[in-house]
Amino acid sequence: MTQTTTVTLNETQLRSLLAELADGARAFRFEVAPNPCVGAALVAGGQVVARGYHRVWGGPHAEVEVFAAARAAGVQPSECDALVVTLEPCCSFGKTPPCTDAIRAAGIRRVVVGALDPDPRHRGAGLKLLAEAGLEIEFVPNASPLEKLAPHFLRWSDIDRVRRPRPWAIAKWAQTRSGHLSPPAGVGDGRWISGPEALREVHVLRGRVDAIVTGVTTVLKDNPRFTVRPPGDPARPPLRVILDSYLRTPTDGRLFEPPGAGEGAGAIHVLCQAGANAARHVALERAGATVTGLRSSEEDHVALRDVQEWLWDHGVRRVLLEAGPQLLSRSLEAGFVDQLRVYTGNVAGGEGETMAPWFTRLKLEERLDREIGGDSVFESFVRNEA
Ligand SMILES: NC(=O)c1ccc[n+]([C@@H]2O[C@H](COP(=O)([O-])OP(=O)(O)OC[C@H]3O[C@@H](n4cnc5c(N)ncnc54)[C@H](OP(=O)(O)O)[C@@H]3O)[C@@H](O)[C@H]2O)c1
Repeated sequence: MTQTTTVTLNETQLRSLLAELADGARAFRFEVAPNPCVGAALVAGGQVVARGYHRVWGGPHAEVEVFAAARAAGVQPSECDALVVTLEPCCSFGKTPPCTDAIRAAGIRRVVVGALDPDPRHRGAGLKLLAEAGLEIEFVPNASPLEKLAPHFLRWSDIDRVRRPRPWAIAKWAQTRSGHLSPPAGVGDGRWISGPEALREVHVLRGRVDAIVTGVTTVLKDNPRFTVRPPGDPARPPLRVILDSYLRTPTDGRLFEPPGAGEGAGAIHVLCQAGANAARHVALERAGATVTGLRSSEEDHVALRDVQEWLWDHGVRRVLLEAGPQLLSRSLEAGFVDQLRVYTGNVAGGEGETMAPWFTRLKLEERLDREIGGDSVFESFVRNEA
């Protein structure tokens, strides 16, 4: 592309572009959380020549996506008049390198942003760095406010949470129409409620978290493996964490089987009450698990607050809770769940505790209802009171 004139967008046009990018970015809210939803565009000659969005947690940021989109369309970012982005570009290493480096390397001369990043590591630091590097910076106040675009990210970067960190937890379960997590006797081999399309989605989700957490009863009843198979990414399988206060996890379960071809299986961690049965401790470690003793709760289970700290200390930032109603309910009660993904299969009735009352008890926001195969899927964020 040969470009000779610089045609800048006026403030109204910039606001409208930032609003449009914000709408596009919100579509990925459940995939990127706890990261913010971010959209970016490259503008040349008064026209948008490429758009990019942060689509997946751990994946490229919107700035990197828009540069790739431009290049794929035969446009060099350095030939464009401006990069317009809904949020201040990051300037620190996370799962990906700083966007400020990518922007400088791309030869961008002007950056327009619609919101500052409240992350204590940023807060204007990214813009300052770019300005010091000689880029022209324009801030359009209130153009893409995080209160509307990504309230979940404001909670994630809230000072109380930063001071007392815990991973972002997604509670995922499959339920019957009455909210039971176990089907009625004789249906789905006692455990299957949702269809194969939903299961494929779950493998994708497993490939995008740092750990899967479950309760020992699920291990005892379902004999699960918690592996990642395509279309999930088996290259980075999450830790498999079992909350098992008294070390009842069987050492001959499928959990301990080696992964099949093309399958990813994360390290197994059993979290028990400190001082739990020493012989079982040794047996589980011989089978391949790492066993850690934590404090117990008032109900004589492993204390969930200690579990949060253990996860954080082990580098876990996004966790998938794949448990039965007991551990799910205790986690929801404790305010340790940030996001829900619930599959409802076309099955009536069921066994055990129903999760139905939680849908009226919880403060849910940014709800999304969709269909996959024969199942309906409900996604939302949980607003926990501070
Ligand atoms: N449909 C689904 O999506 C789905 C998913 C998973 C399971 N399930 C079904 O759920 C059933 C099992 O239900 P469940 O509710 O008993 O299983 P669960 O919630 O997975 O496990 C409960 C056990 O976790 C242990 N635990 C450790 N720390 C805990 C804590 N702080 N709070 C609560 N529990 C803690 C407890 O045993 P200790 O005190 O001995 O540690 C408790 O009995 C199975 O039939 C399974 O098929 C369904």
